[in-house]
Amino acid sequence: MRHVTLRDLEVSRIGLGAMGMSHGYTGSGTDDAESIRTVHRALELGVTLIDTAEIYGPYVNEELLGRALQGRRDDVVLATKFGLVSHTGGGEWNLDSGPANIRTAVEGSLKRLGTDHIDLYYQHRVDPNTPIEDTAGAVRELIDQGKVRAFGLSEAGPDTIRRAHAVQPVTAVQSEYSLWTRGVEERVLPVLRELNIGLVPFSPLGRGFLTGAVRSPDQFDENDFRRDNPRFTGENFRHNLALADDVAAVAAEVGATPAQVALAWLLAQGEDIVPIPGTKRVSRVEENAAADAVVLTAGQLDKLGSMPPAAGDTHTAAQAQMLER
Ligand SMILES: NC(=O)c1ccc[n+]([C@@H]2O[C@H](COP(=O)([O-])OP(=O)(O)OC[C@H]3O[C@@H](n4cnc5c(N)ncnc54)[C@H](OP(=O)(O)O)[C@@H]3O)[C@@H](O)[C@H]2O)c1
Repeated sequence: MRHVTLRDLEVSRIGLGAMGMSHGYTGSGTDDAESIRTVHRALELGVTLIDTAEIYGPYVNEELLGRALQGRRDDVVLATKFGLVSHTGGGEWNLDSGPANIRTAVEGSLKRLGTDHIDLYYQHRVDPNTPIEDTAGAVRELIDQGKVRAFGLSEAGPDTIRRAHAVQPVTAVQSEYSLWTRGVEERVLPVLRELNIGLVPFSPLGRGFLTGAVRSPDQFDENDFRRDNPRFTGENFRHNLALADDVAAVAAEVGATPAQVALAWLLAQGEDIVPIPGTKRVSRVEENAAADAVVLTAGQLDKLGSMPPAAGDTHTAAQAQMLER
């Protein structure tokens, strides 16, 4: 596994998203033993960047990682997120990036993760009620105290990124980016490059869709959040199957899997881009990590890059309200 540097943080070329081990997807939380084996296998394969958040579960995903990383903390660049649980009264799924909330949140995350420091601490969503300078200042204090090594933002727009960065340099912005969600390219990525901030694409496999493994919404269990996602419902779903087929066609040409091709396309967009594909299965972390060695020709990159746009928004209307676009 190659390594790259996101501003000042050395990470593996491909990371691991832990969310689905506990939260959001079909089968989440049903096999912690396999999830822990998946984390261990990732480390063996040289994957270092592991991604979680306090809201995943909530809390249980961090606890799971805490168990998985016992005795292995130094092998990992551990990333977690605050700001979607308000400990000052608002509760879960309430935006709160106020300094008081961050100071409480960090103690909980450190405890659950079984560590004395978080390598990359992201604001999960921009909080319109807290000036970003106050949020950045609070994280800066945690960095001064040694509880956090680096600061990140998620789904933040260019203005917020600049303002935060002026108070505390931002190491990485984590936003959705994949073959079928390319919104960051126009306004966000140029600012990241100007300021030397890394990009960590979340849902790099299109929430599993681009792998070709999702062929019908009937595959989703009741708690799977893709059930309400516009891209995965009704006519949009049927339309989008053609995109998964396009990725599969290139994969057949390359002799790789569609998941590997989707990741290799992201890697080809720049050395400042480190995707965090999510899986709770050993076999898939092996497959995804091997994408580091997949090379696409200029023609294949072109073909993938000119795929038609996906039908349907990538978020529900309620989720979209929390994004800076
Ligand atoms: N910052 C944010 O707001 C935000 C939002 C969403 C996600 N994230 C982070 O980003 C990470 C990745 O995103 P994601 O999990 O939403 O989406 P993703 O990585 O695009 O896709 C994950 C889905 O694909 C399946 N999958 C993984 N590898 C596969 C393969 N090789 N073949 C077929 N299917 C495969 C997984 O199922 P199995 O688990 O069953 O393999 C899971 O259902 C998350 O884990 C989380 O840490 C952050």
